Amino acid sequence: MIITIDGPAGSGKSTAARKLAARLGVAYLDTGAMYRAIALATIEDGVSLADEPAMLAVAERCAIEVDCGPTHTRVTLDGRDVSEAIRTMAVNQATSFVARTVAIRKLLVEKQREIGQSLGSLVTEGRDQGSVVFPDAELKFFLDASIEKRAERRYQEMLADGEEASHDVILKNLEHRDGNDRCQWAPLLEPESAIHIDTTQMTIHEVVERLAEEVGRRSSIES
Ligand code: DC
Repeated sequence: MIITIDGPAGSGKSTAARKLAARLGVAYLDTGAMYRAIALATIEDGVSLADEPAMLAVAERCAIEVDCGPTHTRVTLDGRDVSEAIRTMAVNQATSFVARTVAIRKLLVEKQREIGQSLGSLVTEGRDQGSVVFPDAELKFFLDASIEKRAERRYQEMLADGEEASHDVILKNLEHRDGNDRCQWAPLLEPESAIHIDTTQMTIHEVVERLAEEVGRRSSIES
């Protein structure tokens, strides 16, 4: 079964997708990590973020492997572990340029479909998984939450990780990322057939329970 989870930054979809996949015993695919790995390669190669053909050339030549286990996401770029390196602020910013390059999106959509085909069953998470990449997925979710709540969650996560954090900076960053998601090349699309869950008032445990409940319901219909 292919299960897609889309939603804006900070909606809780990564944690929910990972936990749901672990519970179901299937693979989890973090598609944002793929865009991030290309952004890192672009920065390292000194390629201008305004030069789309050069960014595409980087994307075409680099080998990205994503291993998303229930407790980790390991991403390698040309054989090198870049799991931590793709989470910096510089990579965040560069990723929005990579993600708006149509030819790079096409390349990654193909790669994600290949992964889906070879695995058969997976929980995949991103912005366009239910709409573009796996339009025939058996189950589609769209997670959302108020921007204040998303900023608060990110703030608490950073504090828990011992990182320096400013609630205002996080909020501004989320506003910027929401703008990217909803602009002209808008990758964030909510399929009509998706189950919409507003997680503002929910704990992560409640979100995973809700997702698992829907999976159970769907499985019983199909069997
Ligand atoms: O989910 P994330 O923060 O790791 O995503 C990183 C960036 O990649 C963000 O700018 C949105 C973009 N992205 C996308 O355009 N399509 C996807 N399927 C996944 C992520």
